[in-house]
Amino acid sequence: MCGSGTTIDVANELKRKVIGYDLNVVRPDVIKNDSRKIPLKDNSVDFVFIDSPYSDNINYSNNKECIGKISCEKTEFYDELEKVA
Ligand SMILES: C[S@@+](CC[C@H](N)C(=O)[O-])C[C@H]1O[C@@H](n2cnc3c(N)ncnc32)[C@H](O)[C@@H]1O
Repeated sequence: MCGSGTTIDVANELKRKVIGYDLNVVRPDVIKNDSRKIPLKDNSVDFVFIDSPYSDNINYSNNKECIGKISCEKTEFYDELEKVA
């Protein structure tokens, strides 16, 4: 859920190794992936930062798997975010 990659830029600035995933890839250093199925081994990273959709108030992309297609007034929104967490 790294979107336009602000988090990647900050991590690089801090000289940290960084991997950024998003469904909607807008630059080459973002890897296309659904955050509910992160392809990393357990305990292989030190820190995870997630900037999830806030609700369905912004159209992030046309990808039907985007959690931002679900209203935060629905329980489903939190069920899907729990899978990410
Ligand atoms: C609040 S935005 C992130 C903004 C980001 N911090 C930036 O600097 O642009 C939420 C992001 O979650 C992504 N997203 C929504 N559902 C996703 C999913 N199932 N897997 C991966 N990314 C998802 C959207 O594509 C969107 O880029």
